Amino acid sequence: MLSKTGDIMKKYTILFLMILSGFIVFNSCLDQADPAKVEAHPDDWTIESSQNFHGKVLLTESMSMESCQSCHGADYMGGTSDISCYNSACHAIYPHPEGFADPSSSNFHEGMMAMLNWDLESCQTCHGADYAGNGESSKNCLSCHKGDNGPEACNTCHGNDINAAPPKDLMNHTSVEYVTVGAHQSHLVNGTWTTFQMGECSSCHTTPSAFNSAGHIDDSPNAEINFSALATFNGNSNALWDRTNATCSNTYCHGGFELKKEESTYPWAYTADVMKGSFKKVYWKNTDGPQAFCGSCHGLPPEGHINATDCSGCHSRVVDKDFNIINKYLHINGKIDVFN
Ligand code: HEC
Ligand code: HEC
Ligand code: HEC
Ligand code: HEC
Ligand code: HEC
Ligand code: HEC
Ligand code: HEC
Repeated sequence: MLSKTGDIMKKYTILFLMILSGFIVFNSCLDQADPAKVEAHPDDWTIESSQNFHGKVLLTESMSMESCQSCHGADYMGGTSDISCYNSACHAIYPHPEGFADPSSSNFHEGMMAMLNWDLESCQTCHGADYAGNGESSKNCLSCHKGDNGPEACNTCHGNDINAAPPKDLMNHTSVEYVTVGAHQSHLVNGTWTTFQMGECSSCHTTPSAFNSAGHIDDSPNAEINFSALATFNGNSNALWDRTNATCSNTYCHGGFELKKEESTYPWAYTADVMKGSFKKVYWKNTDGPQAFCGSCHGLPPEGHINATDCSGCHSRVVDKDFNIINKYLHINGKIDVFN
């Protein structure tokens, strides 16, 4: 009994759905036939094989791009028609909006590359693999991007004249208060404490060899942090980047090291089972003066280290009597530099 009622219910539901969908189809036919609806373009305006294809019409009927801009906007982003030319796979960014080559315009191409996920390969299809414009000066990127590698130079999209690291960041920010700018430069130029891996991106990132290297411009937002073997003390320090709070913790470089007395050649130098740095947590967007000062990454001497006042007595290649680092190549290099 029960199953029979169920069957009947099912039949009625199907019938109801058929009537409903018929109604929808009928209604949308009415829609299309609506004489009041204004068609801006012929039906086959977007069909490439048709004589009415907009590209052909533009070429053959000497219509101007201005006429398209009157409805689609000077920047081709929609205008009064609300139909952007860039939403389709056909035109990523061509025709170029007014001001595309004018640095003072809000349509300048620099600011639009993000929208295109920095896809330089899409530019090469028209501007040539070498960006020289295939002989047409109006298309020559190298007239402005004069340096080696033209627009592919490592400091075109981020960085500055000294290195490729922010500032500027990808959105042109320059203040250290942006997480994307932060303390980059103090890790890259004029190191106070070390020269080891200064100037290199690899302490914190995988460094691409070209703009289209795998993993460089990827689908995940934000740059990826991938600490080097030094920064993690060969995987022993649990170095962590916390983007929300913009802090780094447990990095070897900021004192994330622990040495064991039982494994040491010099167990007498210990006052405890381990000798360790201060595992200092540092703030990336810092503007309040130095966080890395003498005694911040490790005590003078470190915790668990025999008492001492003159470090140069045993670490003579690294420091002098007055706590000055005399050889930055040996400091924060991942090695215990003691004696000889
Ligand atoms: C009078 C305003 C107006 C002008 C001028 C105009 N368009 Fe349009 N265009 C529209 C509107 C509205 C639509 C969306 C409705 C339609 O397809 O008819 C549209 C749609 C299109 C589409 C289809 C987009 C899609 O995603 O299917 C293309 C392509 C297009 N226009 C190209 C052009 C070109 C090229 C020119 C210049 C020769 C131009 N239009 C001039 C108003 C205009
Ligand atoms: C479909 C072909 C095409 C694609 C794709 C294309 N362009 Fe162009 N671009 C042109 C043409 C053609 C010109 C010459 C001026 C014009 O017609 O707007 C030009 C001109 C330019 C200019 C002005 C040059 C000058 O000296 O005035 C810049 C800047 C430019 N393009 C940047 C880009 C960038 C960046 C990309 C990739 C995101 C790109 N273009 C993709 C065809 C293209
Ligand atoms: C009229 C001069 C001019 C021309 C022509 C030009 N550019 Fe640029 N472009 C600039 C300037 C200025 C910047 C700002 C950054 C800088 O100073 O390097 C820039 C920035 C860029 C950026 C960085 C975008 C970002 O996210 O910061 C890319 C990518 C780029 N251009 C690609 C191209 C390509 C590809 C072409 C040729 C199709 C081209 N440019 C032609 C002047 C030009
Ligand atoms: C001390 C660690 C460190 C070093 C060294 C370092 N970076 Fe970064 N980098 C960061 C951090 C932290 C961020 C922010 C990541 C985020 O947004 O989550 C970042 C972000 C970036 C971004 C993204 C900017 C944006 O607008 O989103 C770029 C590009 C970048 N770094 C390039 C470089 C280059 C190039 C070098 C070497 C010349 C370098 N970095 C060296 C830590 C570093
Ligand atoms: C066309 C623009 C463009 C050029 C040219 C470019 N980069 Fe980048 N770079 C980006 C973008 C976009 C990101 C952020 C990637 C993400 O979302 O992970 C980035 C991120 C980085 C990072 C941070 C780590 C990462 O991959 O997230 C480093 C390091 C870097 N770039 C180095 C370089 C070097 C070295 C070159 C030259 C070989 C270079 N970039 C050329 C756009 C560019
Ligand atoms: C940014 C963090 C940091 C700061 C600041 C710092 N150190 Fe170090 N220091 C380390 C690390 C990490 C080591 C571990 C050994 C290595 O890799 O060189 C170390 C090791 C040492 C050593 C042992 C010798 C060696 O290189 O193995 C001495 C001595 C020393 N530091 C003295 C100082 C003095 C003196 C100052 C201040 C003038 C100072 N440090 C500031 C991080 C720091
Ligand atoms: C009497 C000799 C002696 C003096 C003086 C001395 N140290 Fe050391 N220190 C050592 C020895 C030996 C080790 C290595 C322990 C090991 O190999 O396990 C060491 C290790 C260290 C380390 C940790 C590991 C590393 O990677 O280098 C630091 C940091 C350090 N000393 C800093 C100092 C500082 C700062 C002073 C001065 C305040 C100082 N030491 C004075 C003998 C000394």
